Amino acid sequence: MIVKRNAHTGNRMSCGLGSLLSCVMASTARAQNEQTVFEPVSDHAEGIVWLWWAMFWVGAVIFLAVMLLLAVGLWRARRPNSGLGESASRNLVIAAGVAIPLVILLTLVGGSLMLGRSIAADPPPNVMRVRVTGWMWWWQVDYLDQDGKVIASTANEIHVPVGRPVEVQLISADVIHSFWVPQLHGKTDVMPGQLNSTWFTAEKAGVYRGQCAEFCGVQHALMAFLVIAEAETDFRRWLERQAAPAEMPENPRARFGLEVFLDRGCASCHTVRGTDAQGNIGPDLTHLASRRTLAAVTIPNTRGHLGGWISDPHSVKEGVFMPRTLLEPEELTALTVYLETLE
Ligand code: CUA
Repeated sequence: MIVKRNAHTGNRMSCGLGSLLSCVMASTARAQNEQTVFEPVSDHAEGIVWLWWAMFWVGAVIFLAVMLLLAVGLWRARRPNSGLGESASRNLVIAAGVAIPLVILLTLVGGSLMLGRSIAADPPPNVMRVRVTGWMWWWQVDYLDQDGKVIASTANEIHVPVGRPVEVQLISADVIHSFWVPQLHGKTDVMPGQLNSTWFTAEKAGVYRGQCAEFCGVQHALMAFLVIAEAETDFRRWLERQAAPAEMPENPRARFGLEVFLDRGCASCHTVRGTDAQGNIGPDLTHLASRRTLAAVTIPNTRGHLGGWISDPHSVKEGVFMPRTLLEPEELTALTVYLETLE
């Protein structure tokens, strides 16, 4: 039995062995636009998938040619005196064993080096800068102005304007991670103590799933994020909202929720700008309710999942550093009501 979990919805789909093929097809359809190198939306990703297909087809043709030669050789070996002459054998070995492989390998290495150079080139001057910090097992996202000052912070969700180059500066807060959005660019290591960077231009609006691509501990597989490419005006509006501090809630229940947040431990790890909560070892929650998912694309951002996550994060993501928060039912409800006001 194969069970797959869809990260956006938390739905599970089950497949018996008998329906394996239809299951693979269904999960492929489901995974479309989720995380695939085969639907590139930037020139860097297009170059990478082009090189991949070139290597695949060249390898496939060579494999078939070798199998064909092997079959011919076996067939001829059963007949006496049917082998090639000495000079024909020598020529075959020199051509197929040395000359052709040399040409093919040099061409592929050349193509790979040229692509690597174009990807590693400096970004254009109108680039937008974002600093992404890898944590076990989530992503801190800070938007920078021209002077490198932080304009807004969020987590696990990177909004970018369509058609504008974006430079992602990468650093780790703990172990080595790897930043990868298959539809946008190649993998880039995220190291402690060393600022790496990558850049891409999303050519099409959409939601592109990214994933940590370097094993970094027990929840490596659930260290995902979303890149949301949108029109420049929508992006501007979003960034302005993210840069603003949280508003004080009007609703008395939400106000009680804020008290719970400040008094029951949440604030020692999380920041909500505009309040006394200034913790800096967990995600910035100032605009938590604007995000699509929780726990780095593990569960959807709904009240039920939020309540479950707060009361027992380990049942959702085992080994995570967020502790359980033991609350009375009315405290938990008020807390989730408050967090939902953080739009
Ligand atoms: Cu972070 Cu794997």
